[in-house]
Amino acid sequence: MRSTHSFTLGAALLCVLSSTNAYKLVDTFDSTNFFDEFSFFTGTDPTQGYVDYVSESAANNSHLVRTQNNQVYMGVDYTTKNPSGGRKSVRVSSNKAYTQGLFIADIAHMPGGICGTWPAFWTFGPNWPSSGEIDIIEGVNSANTNTIHLHTSPGCTVSSQNSASGTSSLGNDCSAGNSNTGCGVSTSNTNAYGTGFNANKGGVYAMQWASNGIYIWFWQRGQVPAGITNGSPDTSHWGTPMASFSGSGCDFASSFKNHNIIFDSTFCGSWAGQQSVWSSGSCASLASSCNDYVSNNPSAFKDAYWLINSVKVYQ
Ligand SMILES: *[C@@H]1O[C@H](CO)[C@@H](O)[C@H](O)[C@H]1NC(C)=O
Repeated sequence: MRSTHSFTLGAALLCVLSSTNAYKLVDTFDSTNFFDEFSFFTGTDPTQGYVDYVSESAANNSHLVRTQNNQVYMGVDYTTKNPSGGRKSVRVSSNKAYTQGLFIADIAHMPGGICGTWPAFWTFGPNWPSSGEIDIIEGVNSANTNTIHLHTSPGCTVSSQNSASGTSSLGNDCSAGNSNTGCGVSTSNTNAYGTGFNANKGGVYAMQWASNGIYIWFWQRGQVPAGITNGSPDTSHWGTPMASFSGSGCDFASSFKNHNIIFDSTFCGSWAGQQSVWSSGSCASLASSCNDYVSNNPSAFKDAYWLINSVKVYQ
């Protein structure tokens, strides 16, 4: 009797717990629909990169994008020397916008860890920064770890103290530096970015955007939770996020709204190409400036590509 009783209680409890965390699949973007559901940005890079963001047809004609083996490939021009107006690349944005949810990206390869590159997987909303920005994967040059940031209008200050050990705060005021700096954390898992990420055939990033905070997890290939693989992700089983942004100093519901999902690969520009950044790292010995290096060394960018298995949105 006693064990039956506790079993019933346990089952009831489990039911309550899972119903509070019951995310439903809303959208899947993969090789079957990705280029129908994402649009190509062809404007000037807002981050002043040495990049020429091309249209879908131009990207297709130059073999910068394709689907292959059920994966989505988005690369850059790695053959043209001294490309005028910047190296050709792509920046794509989901046609659909979202407010809150669980965003799960299964990525096999990413462009990072190469001098001159500045890849990003991120989300942002209209009238930047008033609808916020969430930078899930980002880094520059020879970085071997991911940097995660939020950007908002003034009035959003977060705590990141519940992030995984090995992360350290890059500031708590998400409007800092007129939102160019923002709030964020640096991370230490070298399997989560660039060369280390690619060596393991990538992994899965999950971003939970909730009314009380924003939480980002990463698992390298082979360690992805079963709930993700079988389509019933349950954040309560995932342990400490890589990055956790929460606290009463930010009204997350009003600071983050209507985000499109973006993948891009830019070169140099206002972070990677900043002279103080370029000349302080290991890339400095390759060329006197980031633009010089990117301009003269096309073959260095052969591996600067995204290879995406899927992006799934649950709400
Ligand atoms: C590229 O062009 C081919 C031939 O027209 C087409 O089948 C394919 O869908 C295009 N790919 C993209 C990503 O636009």
